[in-house]
Formats: sequence, structure tokens, C-alpha cells
Amino acid sequence: MRILIILSILIPIIVIPAESKEKLYYIGSRKCRLCHFDYFQGWEKDLHAMAFESLRRMKDNPYCLKCHTTGYGEPGGFISEKITPQLRGVQCEACHGPGSKHKENPTDPNSLPVGTHIDYKTVCIQCHDQNWTPQFDYEKYKKRIEHKVKKEIKK
Ligand code: HEC
Ligand code: HEC
Ligand code: HEC
Ligand code: HEC
Repeated sequence: MRILIILSILIPIIVIPAESKEKLYYIGSRKCRLCHFDYFQGWEKDLHAMAFESLRRMKDNPYCLKCHTTGYGEPGGFISEKITPQLRGVQCEACHGPGSKHKENPTDPNSLPVGTHIDYKTVCIQCHDQNWTPQFDYEKYKKRIEHKVKKEIKK
């Protein structure tokens, strides 16, 4: 019995990896725009960019905010339209993860959660669940959010 009590105190401390203790927060897609202008332009035309506006009169309903904003309920994520207007809608970081560390040191692969370590399909279906997108097919849906815009060569 005593062992169980001790274990139940210790386990949470052991399980949390050191990494997750670092303070990561959401910086908003305007910041990503500084270095990824082409992707920003592509994303801007996407329905995700307009997801907050779709809520109309439900813009303070916590249930809706989880999927129509960026990082709602997470540290450094969306709180409300008034406090965090820069995190409205489904922005870059809703899929790529919070970017504070990446912004500081973009070429360090360890500065990611942004990018390589992410299983994007798992990320999508957190919002595109059975309820909202029963027909979800990752490969098909991924093509529809292609956000790299080829730069036009000026003549
Ligand atoms: C200060 C400039 C800068 C900012 C701001 C920035 N990035 Fe980057 N990002 C880079 C550079 C440079 C690379 C290329 C790193 C490399 O290939 O080594 C990169 C790479 C990436 C990659 C590809 C990683 C991979 O696996 O190849 C993604 C995804 C990404 N950034 C997303 C974002 C998002 C989302 C934001 C905003 C939250 C953001 N970036 C903000 C400069 C920036
Ligand atoms: C944070 C929640 C969230 C995540 C994560 C997310 N989506 Fe979405 N997605 C939405 C919402 C909300 C809409 C509807 C936007 C609107 O019209 O208001 C949407 C719309 C879309 C649409 C347009 C659907 C249509 O009818 O044209 C596509 C395609 C899509 N998402 C693909 C993806 C893919 C692929 C991923 C993963 C890489 C993904 N989404 C991740 C919330 C999310
Ligand atoms: C679990 C995530 C989730 C929650 C919670 C959620 N939505 Fe959505 N919503 C989505 C996704 C994903 C889509 C895109 C569906 C698709 O086309 O595949 C969507 C689409 C929509 C659309 C359609 C946009 C359009 O014009 O086509 C509206 C409107 C909408 N949601 C409003 C709401 C409201 C209001 C609430 C709260 C009552 C809410 N949503 C809660 C994920 C969610
Ligand atoms: C709805 C989810 C979603 C949103 C929103 C989103 N991305 Fe992406 N992004 C993806 C997916 C999925 C890929 C492709 C990964 C692959 O090819 O497997 C990708 C690819 C990229 C890449 C190329 C690097 C790579 O890993 O292929 C960059 C850079 C990038 N996104 C930046 C951005 C920026 C900047 C924004 C916001 C302006 C943004 N993304 C918004 C899902 C998203």
C-alpha cells in the first residue's frame, strides 16, 4: 500500500520529459510570415484562415474555440478575441506546433516541434473527427491545403 502511494507520487514526475518543461508558446502566423511569405500567402486563401469568422455568434463558446482557433486551452495559446486576437482561426501553429523556439533558432532541427517530428494526420483528426468530417481522407485533404505558392518572376 505504501509503495503504491509513493509510486503514484513519483510517476508523474518521471514521465514528463525534460523537453516539455520548456516554455513554448504560440507566436501567430504574422510572425511566420516574416520568413515564410510564400506559405503565408497560400494559407491566407485557405478556409482555415477564416475558421474564426465561421463561428459568427459563437465566438466565445469554449467548445467551438478548440477547433476554430490556434492553441486554445494550451499554454501560450488562444484565450479570447480580446486578449489574443492574433491567434484567431486555424493558423500555421495549429498544425505545425507552437513556434516560439523555432523563431529564435530556425535552422536548429531541435528547435522544432514545428516540422519534421509531427505526424500531421494525427493532428488533423483532432479537429476533423468523426463528427465534423466523417469522410476525412488525409491524402485528399492534404492536397486541398497545399500552401506553398510559387513565386512569380517579375518581368
Ligand atoms: C526568423 C525566421 C523564421 C521564422 C519567424 C519562422 N521560420 Fe520556419 N523556418 C525558417 C528557416 C530558415 C527554416 C529552414 C530550416 C532548415 O531547413 O534548416 C524554417 C523551416 C520551417 C519548416 C520546415 C521544417 C522542416 O521540417 O523542414 C516549417 C514547417 C516552418 N519553418 C514553419 C514555421 C512556422 C509555422 C512559423 C511561425 C510559427 C515559422 N516557421 C517561423 C525560418 C523561420
Ligand atoms: C485546430 C483544428 C484543425 C486542424 C488541426 C486542422 N483543421 Fe482542417 N479545418 C478546420 C476547420 C474549423 C475547418 C473549417 C473552416 C471554416 O470554413 O470555417 C477546416 C477545413 C479544412 C478543409 C476545407 C474543407 C472544405 O470543405 O473545403 C480542408 C481541406 C482541411 N481542413 C484539411 C486539413 C488537413 C489536411 C489538416 C491536417 C494537416 C487539417 N485540416 C487540420 C480545423 C482544423
Ligand atoms: C472537434 C472540432 C470542432 C469543433 C468542436 C467545432 N468545429 Fe466547426 N468545424 C470543424 C471542422 C473540422 C470543420 C470543417 C468540416 C469539413 O468541411 O470537413 C468545421 C466547419 C464548421 C463550419 C462550416 C464552415 C463553412 O462555411 O463551411 C461552421 C459554421 C462551424 N464549423 C461552426 C462551429 C461552431 C458554431 C462550433 C461550436 C458550436 C463548432 N464549429 C465546433 C471542427 C470543429
Ligand atoms: C491545416 C494544417 C496546416 C496549416 C494551417 C499550415 N500548414 Fe504548413 N504544412 C502542413 C502540412 C500537412 C505540410 C506538408 C507536410 C508533408 O509534406 O508531409 C505543410 C508544409 C509546410 C512547410 C514545408 C515544410 C515541410 O515539412 O514540408 C512549411 C515551411 C509550412 N508548411 C509552413 C506553414 C506556414 C508558415 C503556415 C501558416 C502561414 C502553415 N504552414 C500553415 C499543414 C499546415
